[in-house]
Amino acid sequence: MSQKTWGGRFTGSTDSRVEAFTESISFDRRLYRHDIIGSQAHATMLAEVGLLTAAEATQIVTALDEIGADIEADKMEFTISLEDIHTHIEKALIAKLGDTGRKLHTGRSRNDQVVTDLKLWTRDAIDELDTLLLDLQKAFVESAEREHGVVIPGYTHLQRAQPVLAAHYFLAYTEKFQRDRERFRDCRTRLNVLPLGAAALAGTSLPIDRESVRAKLGFDSVARNSLDVSSDRDFALEFVFTLSLVATHLSGWAEEWVIWSTTEFNFLDLPDAFCTGSSIMPHKKNPDVLELTRGKSGRVIGALQQLFVLVKGLPLAYNRDLQEDKTAIFDAFDTVAGCLAVAAPLVRQTKLRREVIASRLDAGFLDATTLMESLIARGVPMRSAHEVVGNLVRECEQRKCRLADLPDAMFPAPEVKASLGVTNALSAFKSYGSTAPAEVTKQLAEWKNRLGI
Ligand code: ARG
Repeated sequence: MSQKTWGGRFTGSTDSRVEAFTESISFDRRLYRHDIIGSQAHATMLAEVGLLTAAEATQIVTALDEIGADIEADKMEFTISLEDIHTHIEKALIAKLGDTGRKLHTGRSRNDQVVTDLKLWTRDAIDELDTLLLDLQKAFVESAEREHGVVIPGYTHLQRAQPVLAAHYFLAYTEKFQRDRERFRDCRTRLNVLPLGAAALAGTSLPIDRESVRAKLGFDSVARNSLDVSSDRDFALEFVFTLSLVATHLSGWAEEWVIWSTTEFNFLDLPDAFCTGSSIMPHKKNPDVLELTRGKSGRVIGALQQLFVLVKGLPLAYNRDLQEDKTAIFDAFDTVAGCLAVAAPLVRQTKLRREVIASRLDAGFLDATTLMESLIARGVPMRSAHEVVGNLVRECEQRKCRLADLPDAMFPAPEVKASLGVTNALSAFKSYGSTAPAEVTKQLAEWKNRLGI
């Protein structure tokens, strides 16, 4: 008899090249825990509806625990001839229990099984990511607190724009990662619909109880349409999209800090523990962790493209193409989790070079926009005020001086000079969400409260 679970209608054995080509055990073995939990819920339900005896279900649940422990202890021998993790576990069960083991797959198919496993896995992955993202947010909030009161130049087009508080800067990243956490939460809610029981594609004529399995596995509801179930990888796309956005946020931040750590900027004191040297240039301290964080975003975004291309032309219902989803999902998760794990300590251990930053705040006309606004506040039309200040800046460039160094007579109202200088410019801010010191202090307190710091 063939050792394949589907061997009944075959007379010849599978070509070994086909086994190597079609296997997924090399990567889907990491689903084993979720496969076992799903099978235990399924077996327990089968006993509830009379398709197994209570004793059989108990035997299956116990044997599955033992199989899980064997895999955990590296005792299971994996072989491509058993294709995937589902078959390995079922075969191990049959080896232990004989005919009782041969009853487990009643009323289900690997098609609904694999997507159930993957949803259970993704749920856990999202929970892990939430912990990592929360820790990174805490690192940014701690930096905001440590560097509170420090003024840094804010940029647009990477050109000096207006002064901002360092705390405002760190909290900007806290916001981005908050939206990512919310996206994951949203993805988790939408995916939390039980696939199992859709069987191969059409459901089953056996009296299964999907509601019972739903409750056992912690799903919020049961998938309504069996035909939709095994082809649905929307959740995987949403998950990897959100991972791509996290990777993109990390990449932008990493790029900024690569620039800030150059001799030209010299804004940051990066920790030795998160930098590497050069094998030929003895003086080098390179920001490799930041560079790899930037670079690895390509892998994650690539995984998203891979998934889109994978599913875009698939007719209903299950197609074997779908086996290819896992490498993309796993790699995107591993990559982002790896980036997050080093990002948080790197943020915590990096200090701003306050003196260097302060010594250059006079450059770049960071106070020009506040000067313009003080003219507007005195009734000068916005476009006229813009022109007046533009002319003053041109004058400064010729004289190689700051706005504050121009003679009083050059200003339409000499009092507006009180808004000049970075400190004055910064304290002039008022609007909600701005870098106004009082606003930033409030936001910082709210974040500490929100994140439980
Ligand atoms: N190894 C397969 C996968 O990952 C399991 C499902 C196989 N189903 C089937 N009808 N051949 O997608």
